[in-house]
Amino acid sequence: MPVIFAKAPGKIILFGEHAVVYDQPAIAIPVHKVKATARVIPNLEGQPGEVRIQAADIQLDAALSDLAEDHPLAIAARMGLKAASVDRPPSFTLQISSTIPISAGMGSSAAIAIAIIRALADFFGVPLSVDKISSLAYEVEKFQHGTPSGIDNNVIAHQQPVFFVRNQPIETLTIEQPTHWVIADSGEKTPTRETVSDVRKLYDSDPTTCGDHFRQIGEITRNARESLIKGEITRLGQLMDQNQRLLESIGVSSPTLEHLIIAAKDAGAVGAKLSGGGRGGNIIALSTADNMERIETALLNAGGQRVITTILNKGRR
Ligand code: PMV
Repeated sequence: MPVIFAKAPGKIILFGEHAVVYDQPAIAIPVHKVKATARVIPNLEGQPGEVRIQAADIQLDAALSDLAEDHPLAIAARMGLKAASVDRPPSFTLQISSTIPISAGMGSSAAIAIAIIRALADFFGVPLSVDKISSLAYEVEKFQHGTPSGIDNNVIAHQQPVFFVRNQPIETLTIEQPTHWVIADSGEKTPTRETVSDVRKLYDSDPTTCGDHFRQIGEITRNARESLIKGEITRLGQLMDQNQRLLESIGVSSPTLEHLIIAAKDAGAVGAKLSGGGRGGNIIALSTADNMERIETALLNAGGQRVITTILNKGRR
């Protein structure tokens, strides 16, 4: 049996975070510059059923059977084995690594789960559809994050820009003109569970105002869909700025994020907003093709811990 590799990209939300939990649409794109990798190495000397999990990034080297039931890597590995209908697999080692920043809103947990599930399905020669892989990763995500909307597993499994509405079939977007993006990590972890729960409290205390904010975010996201496809950056930038103001209104921005957003705008970003759960994690800025470096430098000077540039290319479905 050969060694099998599987990879999964990171992701970033462009529009609609938080409102997506309340059934409004959101748009996310894969970020291929960062990725999770899973490698399955057959262990010819091992006994059937002996599975080792190694993740050097977190100094883990353990038998699958010794990992706690709720260990995220164990959950993904067991899910992958179950999907491949293997009860007693031939002995193998599963090696996992990732360059996706953790707790930064870049989909690290979903990408790791997807890389593991894909690698195991390939290893055992069991074809799994993209939707099946996405739904298995969603089950893994639920163990870790409660009830996430499902946008992460969808965009990462499809590896394409998505227009996502909870509990509806996923729509992938075919891009007609490239757009240029600069992502900066604030260096503060995003407490997604906490911000989602605080937004819920806000909604419960004032459903009319909060519901109206969500509807406005939904409208912005629906408008952004066409502009993103067509590469209408002036319009997209305005929509990002509007989305950011609404995210501030629901209390998920932070002084650090706003500082980075202002730095990006001062350096010529066409639009900028936080991305993901907020109060930490990333901001995303939209750039013209020739200004990415200037925005990148400005964000690093403003305290951005790590800056990633990414181009959403034409035709990337
Ligand atoms: O912080 P992230 O990128 O995992 O995104 C959270 C996005 C929310 O809309 C706030 C929650 C969700 O489950 O969609």
